[in-house]
Amino acid sequence: MNAIDDKDFGTPARESATLVTLEIDGVAVTVPAGTSVMRASAEAGINVPKLCATDSLEAFGSCRVCLVEIEGRKGYPASCTTPVEPGMKVRTQTPKLADIRRGMVELYISDHPLDCLTCPTNGNCELQDVAGLVGLREVRYKKGENHLELKKDESNPYFTYDPSKCIVCNRCVRACEETQGTFALTIDGRGFDSRVAAGQNEAFMESECVSCGACVQACPTATLTEKSVIRIGVAEHSVVTTCAYCGVGCGFKAEMKGSEVVRMVPWKDGSANHGHSCVKGRFAWGYATHKDRITKPMIRKQISDPWQEVSWDEAIAYAAGEFRRIQQKFGRDSIGGITSSRCTNEETYLVQKLVRAAFGNNNVDTCARVCHSPTGYGLKQTLGESAGTQTFDSVMQADVIMIIGANPAAAHPVFASQMKRRLRQGAKLIVVDPRTTEMVQGAHYRADYHLKLKPGTNVAVIDALAHVIVTEGLLKEDFIAERCDLKSFGDWKAFVSRPENSPEAMADVTGVPADVLRGAARLYASGGNAAIYYGLGVTEHAQGSTMVMGIANLAMATGNVGRLGVGVNPLRGQNNVQGSCDMGSFPHELPGYRHVSDSTVRAEFEAHWGVSLNAEPGLRIPNMFEASLDGSFRGLYVQGEDIVQSDPNTQHVADALMAMECLVVQDIFLNETAKYAHVFLPGSSFLEKDGTFTNAERRISRVRKVMPPKAGYADWEVTQLLANALGYPMNYGHPSEIMAEIAALTPTFRGVSYEKIDRQGSVQWPCNEQAPDGTPIMHVEQFVRGKGRFMITKYVATDEKVTQRFPLILTTGRILSQYNVGAQTRRTENVHWHSEDRLEIHPHDAEERGIREGDWVGIESRSGQTVLRATITENVQPGVVYTTFHFPESGANVITTDNSDWATNCPEYKVTAVQVMPVTQPSEWQKNYQRFNRQQLELARTEESGA
Ligand code: SF4
Ligand code: SF4
Ligand code: SF4
Ligand code: FES
Repeated sequence: MNAIDDKDFGTPARESATLVTLEIDGVAVTVPAGTSVMRASAEAGINVPKLCATDSLEAFGSCRVCLVEIEGRKGYPASCTTPVEPGMKVRTQTPKLADIRRGMVELYISDHPLDCLTCPTNGNCELQDVAGLVGLREVRYKKGENHLELKKDESNPYFTYDPSKCIVCNRCVRACEETQGTFALTIDGRGFDSRVAAGQNEAFMESECVSCGACVQACPTATLTEKSVIRIGVAEHSVVTTCAYCGVGCGFKAEMKGSEVVRMVPWKDGSANHGHSCVKGRFAWGYATHKDRITKPMIRKQISDPWQEVSWDEAIAYAAGEFRRIQQKFGRDSIGGITSSRCTNEETYLVQKLVRAAFGNNNVDTCARVCHSPTGYGLKQTLGESAGTQTFDSVMQADVIMIIGANPAAAHPVFASQMKRRLRQGAKLIVVDPRTTEMVQGAHYRADYHLKLKPGTNVAVIDALAHVIVTEGLLKEDFIAERCDLKSFGDWKAFVSRPENSPEAMADVTGVPADVLRGAARLYASGGNAAIYYGLGVTEHAQGSTMVMGIANLAMATGNVGRLGVGVNPLRGQNNVQGSCDMGSFPHELPGYRHVSDSTVRAEFEAHWGVSLNAEPGLRIPNMFEASLDGSFRGLYVQGEDIVQSDPNTQHVADALMAMECLVVQDIFLNETAKYAHVFLPGSSFLEKDGTFTNAERRISRVRKVMPPKAGYADWEVTQLLANALGYPMNYGHPSEIMAEIAALTPTFRGVSYEKIDRQGSVQWPCNEQAPDGTPIMHVEQFVRGKGRFMITKYVATDEKVTQRFPLILTTGRILSQYNVGAQTRRTENVHWHSEDRLEIHPHDAEERGIREGDWVGIESRSGQTVLRATITENVQPGVVYTTFHFPESGANVITTDNSDWATNCPEYKVTAVQVMPVTQPSEWQKNYQRFNRQQLELARTEESGA
């Protein structure tokens, strides 16, 4: 059903240079050619009744409620399926039309329960609206055969399917096909007996449904209804905000009753999602009010002490006092801070400002260190800007899509739906991935080439692709001559042409047959607009930065940068990875990616902030851990991150945190890191604060407060309190003032303001004097750095080698229903889809080890050991095992090593040599974890401080 206040034009908008003028009810209307009569009417403010049409779906023409009269035409054509024609004269309201419509609606109502007053969607039902609109007052048909007794399907935790209310308009089926691309629904049966069926007439939860909610959104009746609406009732008002899960950055309308969320409805005008959603943003928001939320500040001297609830003043004074004490004893550089990609731009900006201005050092880093730091480095070196080049919509102009080390169907689902739509339209597909993911083959698409490489050999693959392009004469010479640095191009060309980089020479290393690789290279270089989308399977490697540069080289060499349909597109994992990097969260960069050693830039910040800034880069996260263990780093402020669960080599991280004298954790839950903390500052969820997130397209969108912060303060206010307690004044009254400061100090944000975001819906940076409305596509006329620079990308095998002791390679990833460390999604009904991390293993490797489906298996690396249950699948290749990392007790990062990218220290999560064996009990680490976890939860049963 439509969200509050959203006008539905009945059919999708059309784009055409040709305009058509027609007359509707005596009014002249001009619309692009291809527009339906229904939409043209709606645009002129004339609403034709409709049931099976909605503007997110192509017209279907089944309900016959939208009939109109057209001069010179026989009968009553359906306005939703009739395109406009020049000079057409349409009448939408005549006594005859009214009669027919009333008759049609009467038929629907005769087989529909007349329980409007007690229906959960009373007041928000299109059938009800249409009955009113056509003036239906009575139903003349006697009670006959009907569907009123059909049983409800309540299997999905988030919505119900009540077939007794279905009018078989097909909107849900089309939504699942056109919008979502899952094809889980069909109309089963014929004629009067036809009904919607999930899968092979199964319960929704048993079918292929991924619970994206598109069908619920499209349903005009209460047939498909959110359980939250059934429980709470129809909303009273709505607020537009942005999803706090992944880097797609979907716009949502939070539909509210007072300060209670009734449902999250994907925002039709959201430029990243165009009214679509996935199960996380649409349904998994219940964590915000979960009973595990900690809403009182707490302190303790040692981590073996019970937590003591204290006032905000006391907690802040204690943290500030400890930080100053530590600095006096161990020096200015002995403390630092970690910003979060889950927090807003404004919050992240304040944390790095706090570290640089109030702590007086550059010891600030962000969780992007462990995901996309190589993207920042690699793209800056080659193209000149640390960000993706395109809009998501650009994929609709791509002829060839190359996905490298990413599984958007699981991690960026709404963009995956858009990508799949383009694939169904005929775009070609190359997938570079060690696993057979959903992106390799799905409903009505199949990869033309799947380069199923061995984990850790990305650079060998990209060099071999480049080799084919160079040696087979597939270079875009004119683009290179005009746009690129020719010296670096010449060096690169000579390098990739070497025989050792040929697909044949590399086949043994990569495991990719030479002919497959050659085919993929030819398709990418000569298949029209070619766009690369990549994820953590590129960056989280010892050669992560090298691979990013290799990708940029390939795009420049083939002229695939600087226009719609092409580009280099990092798919950011968390909601604000792009933003946290933009905001100066790295120890060597001030906001806008400007090096701290640049005295002109520093002087600008010094003048604005009223302090002198350190010119030396500070510590990265892994260096903070090292420094903690060697005794020189003693205090850390962590906002919104769970480094114990998300960083590699868990034991090492835990040891480093235990060595600290003051760990301050700010979070909504007592996360794994907080179990090692001395001060806990309650955080606020995205529903409780104002701010902005920046998605993978550089799109800055508003986050709007829909309920008061549960603990009294939004996260930015807490940072401000801490700064003031440290003697560095911060006095922002609203996050818009923080954004105004960011804009004043950051050239690429110069034109960004809340007013502009509110007016435009969102803004893509750079947004400044040269681009006042923002920049959808980057590097259009020239590269940001001037001439595009080719970099030599020599393949160097990782140190992490398989041996007799550790003969398998473990690689890690995500699944659709869980998000990152799972702190949010594990506290929602999403656990119905995925309640534990499992180890995927190939049948051959399983058989060799006597492992059966569901067996407990021990996974051991040189870092540690953990135990998971096995899933036997050919989705992984022999020699490779795979797991997700959403549950703390799984200890996936107990096994990962501290190998990292040579340029940025991004951990090599994707390659760990392991042995896998059947076991009967949890690992030692897991037993210790369970004990420690129990103890910490016990210590968190606080009593209010008498102090
Ligand atoms: S929730 Fe999404 S995937 Fe499931 S049936 Fe509806 S549209 Fe299809
Ligand atoms: S479930 Fe809703 S959308 Fe689907 S056919 Fe029935 S009434 Fe139409
Ligand atoms: S695709 Fe990402 S941003 Fe969109 S609803 Fe899902 S999790 Fe949220
Ligand atoms: S709305 Fe046009 S036929 Fe149903």
